[in-house]
Formats: sequence, structure tokens, C-alpha cells
Amino acid sequence: MNVYDSARMADVLAPLGYVPVSAPDDADMVILNTCHIREKAAEKVYSELGRIRQIRDRRAGQGRATVIAVAGCVAQAEGEELRKRAPIVDIVLGPQTYHRLPEMVARVARAGDGVGVVATDFPVEAKFDELPEASAPQGPSAFLTVQEGCDKFCTFCVVPYTRGAEFSRPAAQILAEARKLVAQGSVEITLLGQNVNAYRGAGPAGTRWGLGRLIRALAEIPGLARLRYTTSHPRDMDEALIAAHREVPSLMPFLHLPVQSGSDRILAAMNRGHRAADYLALVARLRAAQPAMALSSDFIVGFPGETEADFAATMELVREVEYAQAFSFKYSPRPGTPAALAEDQVPDEVKTERLHRLQDLLWQQQRRFNLGLVGRTIPVLLDRPGREPGQLAGRSAWLQAVHVDAPSALMGRVVEVTVRGATLNSLDGRLPAPAAMEEAAA
Ligand code: 5AD
Ligand code: SF4
Repeated sequence: MNVYDSARMADVLAPLGYVPVSAPDDADMVILNTCHIREKAAEKVYSELGRIRQIRDRRAGQGRATVIAVAGCVAQAEGEELRKRAPIVDIVLGPQTYHRLPEMVARVARAGDGVGVVATDFPVEAKFDELPEASAPQGPSAFLTVQEGCDKFCTFCVVPYTRGAEFSRPAAQILAEARKLVAQGSVEITLLGQNVNAYRGAGPAGTRWGLGRLIRALAEIPGLARLRYTTSHPRDMDEALIAAHREVPSLMPFLHLPVQSGSDRILAAMNRGHRAADYLALVARLRAAQPAMALSSDFIVGFPGETEADFAATMELVREVEYAQAFSFKYSPRPGTPAALAEDQVPDEVKTERLHRLQDLLWQQQRRFNLGLVGRTIPVLLDRPGREPGQLAGRSAWLQAVHVDAPSALMGRVVEVTVRGATLNSLDGRLPAPAAMEEAAA
């Protein structure tokens, strides 16, 4: 979502004459779009600001001013504190206020050095209503935010505090943005939301649409070959959405469905609202609806009070699901969240050791999933230049990176590719031989 938000900030600033630059030394304004989910991400902001200060000083020596803004969830969480700790910051803006960037930039320009702007209120509806239409094309694969915020309050998570309450954009607004993206050349759209499957947006004539209904409407847009959505909560995976996986061919058979832990005791302490068995039953229903379905998840190890038996339950759940891919993290206490205050924090060495065991297992599964495709011919969306000249790279239906020798004319197309090799992180593919293609056409 930060990638999408950054693109929208560029859209907002374009009418003022701002264009993206590739080297920070050339930037009249630097916006750091930040993440607060774990301590490491939040701390990076301050080290990055140290680097930007050097750039600003160098530019000042050449008589050039630099406006420095911090956007996103660290800005939201730290507000005025951020300017105290890093006085070089001119603008602090939370995720719900970036449509007001032009006004903030103007205020800083008028006031000159030393006067900052802090905007961290929560007018989500205002933001989407006031943003200009996307101006810069996103390329073959695009993001589209349909939902923001979270009302779930998992006890480890800052998102409900930094992104605010759940909000769904009206369906008509989303459909218009999707049509615009397709007109600009996008063939794949990933619908975004912190709790994307909690989507309940205004539909036509006073109706409310869930995500399944929205996906069906989006699937009607000519030229939109692929749909995805992320991130989902197991509790919001309703029948209509599962049915969409059975019935909508452009909905990709890959789902990021975080479970966090396989221990019922820990799931309860996390306030996840489901047990391990509920999750396994849901995975079975998804696979019944769409046999090609592959799954991904997020895991937290070393949540307060996690015992070796709790961790073993997580390993067991992973063995039962057999994931295609996954992200795993050591629990990081976040200020203002209930779990941070728990007394039974797990020592860091224990977290590290469990993380290694979990990642070993997840990597084995990921490698197995990738190797299982060798020899098969699968559709790939070629969406970017490859590593070598004469190559393009793309994504399989299951979001694997695929490298192919292919002419640049195929960029932005979904093509059939035969997989001839696989590693942990990517597939190596080849286009059917021209002779074979002619035969197929004949
Ligand atoms: N510590 C570690 N991981 C966390 N996540 C969220 N909060 C924390 C935390 N305090 C992870 C969860 C979530 C993903 C986006 O980040 O696994 O699904
Ligand atoms: Fe955070 Fe997701 Fe839980 Fe919401 S559902 S509190 S975003 S982990």
C-alpha cells in the first residue's frame, strides 16, 4: 500500500510541477513514506533522515533548498515528536492526509526554515474524494486501494492506531479507477486493503457490496486479465468471496491469508478471533472451490507467552497447509499495543532460533512448490525488463517471478511459458519454439 500511496502523492504533486528524480541530490523535496509495523522499519526512518540531512547540507552549500517530508505510519504514530527528534523534517503527514500535500508544501515555502506542518488527522473519505485522477500509468501490473484501516485490534499490531478504522471506497469510484488503469495499459490489478476482504462499500441504489461482488464487477472490464487482492483476514473470508474463486477465471488462484500462529492459546492471546482448526477448514474450502489455489501467510514467532509447545503447533499447521510462500517475523513489541505490556516476553535468542526453524520449513515448502512446476506450461504476465538484454521478467498466477528470453514486444502480455528450472525465489521459463507456435496456430 505504501507503493500505491507514494504513486498517489506523485499524482497530487504533479500539477505543482514536481516530477520524480532518480538521485536524491537532484530532489527539491524528499518524501519518506514510512512503515511502523515493526521496530526495525520505524528505526530505519531516523537513519535514513541522517543520510538525507547530508544531502540537504550539500545542496544548501550550492544555494539550493530542500523540503523534507515524512509520510505514512511513522509520521502518524509519532507526529510532533518526530520533528523534535529530527528537526530537519519540514512536513509530517499521516496516511490520511496526503491529498493536502500541495497546501502543506505551500505553507512551508512561505514560512521558510523552522516552521513545520504536522497533519495526522483521519479524514479518509475526504482523501479519496479529493485525490486527483491517477496521472502516471502504473505499468502492466497495478495497485488499487479499495479498503483501508482495521477494526480487528490484534494485540500485537499498530495498524488500527496508525491507519484508523475500517473504511471502504464506494464501488463506482473503484470501478472508474480500474477502467482508467486498464485504459493506461494495466492488465493486472491488485486490490489493496489492510483488511481487504472486510470490504463493504456502497454499491448502486443504496446496496452494500462485499469483496466477492466487487470482484465480479471488476472482472467484466474488457482487457483486465488478472485480479488479485491483499491482505485478507481469515475471519472475513465469506462464501461470496470463496465462490468468486470458483467462478471468476481472472481471479488468480493465489491467496495471502495470514494465520500468525498455529497455537489456539496464542491465537486467543493475539485476539485473532479464530482457532487453528477454523483456518485449516477455510483452507480446505478454498482448495475445494479452486483446486489450483496456492497459499501464503504471515507468521509471528516469540509472541509473549509462546512456549515450545505453542511453536510446535505453528510448525504442525505449516506442515498441514503446505505453503507456496510466506513471511515470518520475530515478535516486535510496539508502543501502545496490549501485547507490548505483557510480562512474559520471549527472549530474543529464543525468537531467533524459532524463526530459523520456521523459515527452514517454509523455504523447503516454497522450493518444493516452485520445483513442482518444472516441465509445465503456465501463463505468465511479462511486466518488466529481465536481468539480461533480450530477457523479460514476469509473474506466474501464483506470484512467482519468472525469467524468460522474450522480445520486448511481449511486454505487458500474458504468454504461455514452459518452466525449465526453479530455485527458491524464481522460475526460469522459455517461450514455445516458433515451430511449435506455428503448428498450434495451424
Ligand atoms: N511484531 C512482529 N510482526 C508483526 N506484524 C504485525 N505486527 C507485528 C509485530 N508487532 C506482522 C504480522 C502481519 C504483518 C504485516 O506484519 O505478521 O500480518
Ligand atoms: Fe493488524 Fe491485520 Fe490484525 Fe488488523 S487484522 S490488527 S492489520 S494484523
